Amino acid sequence: MSDPKNILMLAGDGIGPEVMGEVKRIIDWSNAKGDTNFVVEEDLVGGACYDVHGVAVTDATMAKAHAADAVMLGAVGGPKWDDVARENRPEAGLLRLRKEMDLFANLRPAVVFDALIDASSLKPELIKGLDIMIVRELTAGVYFGQPRGEEIRDGVAYGFDTQIYSEPEIDRVARVAFDMAKKRGNRVCSVEKANVMESGVFWRKVVTKLHAADYADVELSHMYADNCAMQLVRAPAQFDVIVTDNLFGDILSDCAAMLTGSLGMLPSASLGTKDANGKTPAMYEPVHGSAPDIQGEGKANPLATILSYSMMLRYSFNLGQQADNVDQAVQNVLGQNLRTADIMSKGMTQLSTQDMGKAVVAELEKLG
Ligand code: IPM
Ligand code: MG
Repeated sequence: MSDPKNILMLAGDGIGPEVMGEVKRIIDWSNAKGDTNFVVEEDLVGGACYDVHGVAVTDATMAKAHAADAVMLGAVGGPKWDDVARENRPEAGLLRLRKEMDLFANLRPAVVFDALIDASSLKPELIKGLDIMIVRELTAGVYFGQPRGEEIRDGVAYGFDTQIYSEPEIDRVARVAFDMAKKRGNRVCSVEKANVMESGVFWRKVVTKLHAADYADVELSHMYADNCAMQLVRAPAQFDVIVTDNLFGDILSDCAAMLTGSLGMLPSASLGTKDANGKTPAMYEPVHGSAPDIQGEGKANPLATILSYSMMLRYSFNLGQQADNVDQAVQNVLGQNLRTADIMSKGMTQLSTQDMGKAVVAELEKLG
């Protein structure tokens, strides 16, 4: 059996614990089979942590996250914490994990499964075989830029944030995008608002320089973010890899998610820089939120979290074959017309969160 790997599971709020429960089911199965040797530790994040500790993530949990071989996160947030001060809001826990683990490269693949073509709001011919990789910068930009806040200027109240990027911050995420493209369709589309933003002009300059220096063999295009949103719903197949900043990446990845039929299908990986021991800090989470409106009803779709687990197998543990099996199991389950509520359509069989997890394990079992 391989060396044990430590996974920190932070299920979080809302449907987080339910969808994470289905990843636990898969890990239990593959540990029992001897395919993996994952040691899972669970802890609190988000509102669930705030309720116990008064903060959205504790220093002790941060230390565990740094020490773990990989972190899996469910979802954070909910109306229950609407009145909590921003620094302790559930989202602050997620942002602290991203920032302090320096997880600057957020990979958000938007892949359309054939069986789900009809669940998309777009015409089948537009999305058949769609496979886009959004590389979102995750530790800088307006999410973290200083100064930010509210103040009175000449008797008028203002609220403000700062959009700011350094050359190394753009360079390192663009490298990830170019390297990714080389393993896929060899095309990168860099997205900003160079027509109105200084930071957008700068972003384009840095990406162009890097491209000329190290990646001239990859096809590079530039696009304004508003046009990109439009092109994603007009002709999404034109994209291979999209690289963009933190805020545009947040918005465009929600948009890309809906191409695939449901936010409930989109996984993500957030990666940092390899350390001296060869470990790359990593956190895996579904793109969807905590969906408090359906919490505890067994309606949540666990597939985005299960596909995030597959990304963990691939990127953190180099278990490509096992990751392929998980992806294939998901595809097979969908091929058997099994659906959760969010992707339900006529003639399909609706399953609960738990039954969907069981169906995936049953398929894994068949795949051996
Ligand atoms: C995401 C989410 C987060 C973000 C929220 C929950 C802070 O929307 O991961 O896309 O804005 O980054
Ligand atoms: Mg988002």
